[in-house]
Amino acid sequence: MTEDAVPDWLSADELEGEARRRLPADVFDHVAGGAGDELTQVANLDAYLRFRLRPRVLVDVSSVSTSTVILGMEIGCPIFVSPMGSQGLLHPRGEAAIAVGAARAGAGLILSMTASSTMAEVADAAGPARWFQLYFLGRDRHLIEAVVNEAAATGYKAICVTVDSASFGFRRRDMRHVASGSTLLESIRSISRYGIQPGSVVDPSLNWKDIEWLSARTRLPIVLKGITAADDARKAHEHGVRGVIVSNHGGRQLDHGIATLDALPDVVAAVEGKLAVLIDGGVRRPTDVVIALALGADAVAIGRPVAWALAVGGADGVASYLTSMADGLARTMALLGVTTTAEVGAAHIARVG
Ligand SMILES: Cc1cc2nc3c(=O)[nH]c(=O)nc-3n(C[C@H](O)[C@H](O)[C@H](O)COP(=O)(O)O)c2cc1C
Repeated sequence: MTEDAVPDWLSADELEGEARRRLPADVFDHVAGGAGDELTQVANLDAYLRFRLRPRVLVDVSSVSTSTVILGMEIGCPIFVSPMGSQGLLHPRGEAAIAVGAARAGAGLILSMTASSTMAEVADAAGPARWFQLYFLGRDRHLIEAVVNEAAATGYKAICVTVDSASFGFRRRDMRHVASGSTLLESIRSISRYGIQPGSVVDPSLNWKDIEWLSARTRLPIVLKGITAADDARKAHEHGVRGVIVSNHGGRQLDHGIATLDALPDVVAAVEGKLAVLIDGGVRRPTDVVIALALGADAVAIGRPVAWALAVGGADGVASYLTSMADGLARTMALLGVTTTAEVGAAHIARVG
């Protein structure tokens, strides 16, 4: 696989086009696709288009800072890489290359439990804001405890439990490729380091008691990924959770679901500033980050475009895309008349659709 430069003027859509040209069709579709009719996935993207920015002028913006603090961790920009498994299918160095690129851009990183790189490889390459994403795969809680202990010992700073995957998403694109002979799903299982053993799925009995069980066993802050309802956000707080990611798995699990941006304001109101609130799904451009911040998110996370940048340009590609997001955020803030991310608020956006 040859690596090409990812110029900083390339949009996420253009990156996707580049990745499509170089990846096998089954791998491309596995990353690009979602569940069912992909209505959730499309809704995530469309939600950002219903907002417009409203700048303030004649503000001294000679010094703009995109840095922020999440769960006590300072990051250069309010951007994380969403956990994505199987990145070894896109690049030989997989998640480790993503970690290098994210660190160079000052972004945070959430390593997937179904990654193809090891925790240690990624921790060595990542910046200070590195979290580990956990699935409760199977019913063996000893295994879960061992994975969490390893994450803590390897230097991960939070455990991000994905809670939107009680049943596996119905992914037509994957099924179509498998029906025509693709061995993609076997490849995914075989490169996974900690997660998917054949036949192993998320324990469907997973419930709030398991979150209590986990919080009694780790000193790392727990973040729940896959929250879209205010009452779940409140329960998260009651169960000792420190942060939530408003996420619908990029539309890969429940189809016909609410767009994450539409769910964000209710979650923000429910947590009353007591929890860190992140959002992922459909974040593609610096102005999307501003819209999410304006609606109360502390940070965003980005999935597919990072995978595309990896496929096209390896670690350099990821660094280039994420740096262009961070630089674009600083430029947008200057044009908006704000100098810190905390200043971005509801008065800077208008809903137009
Ligand atoms: C190829 C791929 C693999 C993923 N693997 C995981 C995973 O292992 N764990 C998880 O919590 N989410 C996983 N996700 C979902 C992402 O963390 C994230 O929620 C989603 O990609 C965000 O939407 P976006 O791609 O529109 O930015 C995966 C997404 C993709 C595209």
